[in-house]
Amino acid sequence: MPRYRLVSTLACSLFLMAGCTRENALPEGPEPAPPAYSSPDLPDAPFGYAEMDFPESWLNDPALALFGGFGSDVDITNEGATLGRVLFHDTRLSADNSVSCGTCHKPAHAFAEPEAGSTGISGSPLHRNTPGLFNLRYQRRLFWDLRTVGLQNQVLQPVGHPDEMGMDLGLLTEKLAATSYYPPLFEDAFGDPEVTLDRIADALVQFLRSIRSYQSRYDAGLAQDFANFTASEMLGKEVFFRGDTRCNQCHSGLNFFSTQAFINGLELDYAAAGDGGIGDLTGLPQDDGRFKTVSLRNVGLTAPYMHDGRFSDLRAVVDFYSDNIVQHPYLDERFSDNGIGPPGQVPYQLALSEAEREGLVAFLHTLSDTVITSHPAFSSPF
Ligand code: HEC
Ligand code: HEC
Repeated sequence: MPRYRLVSTLACSLFLMAGCTRENALPEGPEPAPPAYSSPDLPDAPFGYAEMDFPESWLNDPALALFGGFGSDVDITNEGATLGRVLFHDTRLSADNSVSCGTCHKPAHAFAEPEAGSTGISGSPLHRNTPGLFNLRYQRRLFWDLRTVGLQNQVLQPVGHPDEMGMDLGLLTEKLAATSYYPPLFEDAFGDPEVTLDRIADALVQFLRSIRSYQSRYDAGLAQDFANFTASEMLGKEVFFRGDTRCNQCHSGLNFFSTQAFINGLELDYAAAGDGGIGDLTGLPQDDGRFKTVSLRNVGLTAPYMHDGRFSDLRAVVDFYSDNIVQHPYLDERFSDNGIGPPGQVPYQLALSEAEREGLVAFLHTLSDTVITSHPAFSSPF
């Protein structure tokens, strides 16, 4: 506000001095306060989240059909997923309006974090690597140690977590109800403007489940006998599916994952190294270092790698699998020379050639899907 207006306002209103004219008096009432937050920029018609479903090959895959369920099977509507998109990218879900889900789960990195040890509201780094988020319909159990069943039961946890978003869940509904753009979005999604925790969770699940990743160069290759692949990518594909490496025995099927957790030989004693994974929950030695077998889709976008982000690039991961698997007492038997028998055997030495290593890295990059990283339906509307 220019100084002279301030002076004349004070003079006129406090002292009712003669000589105050209509011209230098301010309009009635206080000046409108600048908005404390910005509103999302949404398209007039919602994006077609409900229509962007997986192709038939996925929907008819009996292996994939076994997964999902347990609270994750909400129906996706375009309005519900739109609300979920706003909630996901909105820093107002955190106690001090500084952190959103998208702060750590970045769209450009397939909703992962490009550094190990994401920091949320408290500033203390999280001890686990932020995973990518896509194809969650098939992830019945969430987190690196599979500790939560059902996406519906997961999505509010980071909001309340003191290191992530630090929001008192008891205050969240009131805060959102008082945020101008939410009541209409809840009305569009659920038929009336009421804000409830169940509805917040439901909308977040709808948005997350709509992030479907099946449009990589690998998928294009499936339809044309991989005529689109370079020689190096072809070699890498062969190594990946080859009997001795057994990569696809754990990272399997169209989603290159397993819903089971395995011990892949990063440490002799994971608990002593700082994170025992499922072993920290069960206290059983055969679970020490058992971690979720994450999907390798989009792995070219989600560095760093493993539950603690210890490997900064895919070449380091490939070198690890080739030469450096540690003989943990319960190491998965697929890492032994014959691939069968009891766990804990001496790990194989693949000793991959330079061309095979480069090929494997090149092949893993063909699993990147730039639709989910660039489509405005998934990006921040703020
Ligand atoms: C401060 C960073 C941070 C924020 C903010 C954050 N996350 Fe996460 N997220 C993580 C980390 C780290 C993990 C892995 C934790 C673990 O496995 O123990 C994770 C795991 C997840 C998973 C499990 C994925 C899987 O495949 O198992 C989902 C789903 C998820 N987050 C959704 C969300 C949602 C929804 C929000 C916002 C409400 C959110 N996250 C906010 C860091 C964050
Ligand atoms: C016995 C099952 C198993 C086999 C075989 C296996 N993996 Fe894994 N893979 C895992 C598990 C479990 C993790 C997560 C481990 C952790 O974070 O502690 C993982 C993690 C990864 C990651 C990191 C993913 C991320 O987002 O952080 C990559 C890349 C990977 N594996 C590639 C491969 C390749 C290439 C092969 C073959 C050379 C292979 N894997 C063989 C179970 C397996």
